[in-house]
Amino acid sequence: MLPQNGVEALCQALPFRGGASLCRQPEPALASPSVKPVPTEDSEEFSMALARRAFIAGGAHTQYLGKGHPDFIWKRHPDFGKRENPTLEDTLQEAVDGCLADTGVNPADIDRLYIGNFVGELFVNQGHLGSALAGTHPDFAFKPAARLEGACASGGLALLAGLDAIAAGADLVLVAGVEIQTTASARTGGDYLARASHYRRQRSLDDFTFPAMFARRIKAYGERYGLTDEDLAHFAVKAYANANLNPLAHMHSKTCTFEHAKSAHDRNPNFLGNEEFRPYLKVTDCSQVSDGASVLLLASEAGIAKLGRTLSDTVEIAGRGHAVDSLYTDGDMTELTTVRHATHQAMVDAGISVGDLDIAEVHDCFTIAELMSYEAIGLADKGQGAALAASGATALDGKVPVNTGGGLIGFGHPVGATGVKQPLELFRQMKGRCGDYQVGRPLTWGLTSNMGGDDKTVVSFAVRNHQ
Ligand code: CAA
Repeated sequence: MLPQNGVEALCQALPFRGGASLCRQPEPALASPSVKPVPTEDSEEFSMALARRAFIAGGAHTQYLGKGHPDFIWKRHPDFGKRENPTLEDTLQEAVDGCLADTGVNPADIDRLYIGNFVGELFVNQGHLGSALAGTHPDFAFKPAARLEGACASGGLALLAGLDAIAAGADLVLVAGVEIQTTASARTGGDYLARASHYRRQRSLDDFTFPAMFARRIKAYGERYGLTDEDLAHFAVKAYANANLNPLAHMHSKTCTFEHAKSAHDRNPNFLGNEEFRPYLKVTDCSQVSDGASVLLLASEAGIAKLGRTLSDTVEIAGRGHAVDSLYTDGDMTELTTVRHATHQAMVDAGISVGDLDIAEVHDCFTIAELMSYEAIGLADKGQGAALAASGATALDGKVPVNTGGGLIGFGHPVGATGVKQPLELFRQMKGRCGDYQVGRPLTWGLTSNMGGDDKTVVSFAVRNHQ
């Protein structure tokens, strides 16, 4: 891992900052990957972060569920009053069981367990989720287990903790992420989620604090670079189209046409109360209020042997980035500076540059966040993120597909699960397990970006496929 103060200098020096972007020079940026050999444990350039190599051996998602999904029980569902939606306990159990079945791991062999969750205390009156995770299998009793919290980056932090455990000598580590959010209305949930902002200073922005914070970004970005409703509609349409191919997606059966997304209307309202920001954000620009869990198994090389598997069954977490900015200040509203730090750190850690990427999972909590993520990672130059989406380069059949399962807008956003879902999605894509939304060519390098708050806590992983 690079020291924090060295990252900015490295970012400046890297060829992908303001240089050969996908927008300006699509062919050179992606056609000439320069994948460097991954250092071995004996080699001199082996970094602290890779003190022991770590691999994803498999995992499972639950169905991501909420309003708009046909199985979600609400007042107009025929089963309303007859049965309930899955609880946090049900959801976590299902994902853990799915991970154990997928990897064939003997639960007794798991050394440590970590779980990401943001606000279980508020949505379901439940904290102390390390202990809940330990309760998902009798063989987990008395093993070290802990919960990590970093707003919507809680899952990413749990995975970082898992990597540290592998580096410290663990061979098999279970990493979970879970959130249940549909127990409250979207408006009440907006208050709970506002705990990820600086509540004292920013809560009054709007009842829907986070949607308002990103509407503010849409306004600022548009004033600097120009941005239309049509520009943002491309992101929403891609998210729903991918989700329509993904049976686990919250928005699997909801379609979103360009016509529907490109302007505000009764079924796609500008719903904010804040008059300054209301015109900038529509429902289709927003991620979902979802319930769900994702669980993956991390393994060292010895762990892979314990599973009776080989490197080719796994993907390697070859680089990681973790950057955090002050809760008390607002950064540049036209870019995701912390995302830039964390994602570049992960790529540097892995010895790759943006031209090496075959696929990415980015934190599209709102359409503008996906646009700004392209620019932060270096997939597009400043002001060119919308053009990249419109070109189709990040669609399922594009040069660098982004958020193939639908992202936070289409797949859904159970906030504590998202940072675990993203690397597991890269694993599933790289191993050809994505069914109707499978990318139809071999994938070697992928990148994740998981963001807590408004560009405050960011965790990023560079993932390498072993074929
Ligand atoms: N015309 C005008 N206004 C309308 C309307 C219409 N046709 N339909 C709805 N509205 C308004 C109403 O004011 C309504 O509020 P009330 O129900 O209290 O009257 C409000 O919109 C919400 O309507 P619904 O509850 O029916 O909408 P919904 O359940 O479909 O939710 C949403 C839509 C508000 C966009 C919701 O999906 C949402 O809040 N999404 C964002 C979730 C979020 O912020 N997640 C966190 C992302 S930030 C992040 O990732 C980082 C971090 O750390 C937190």
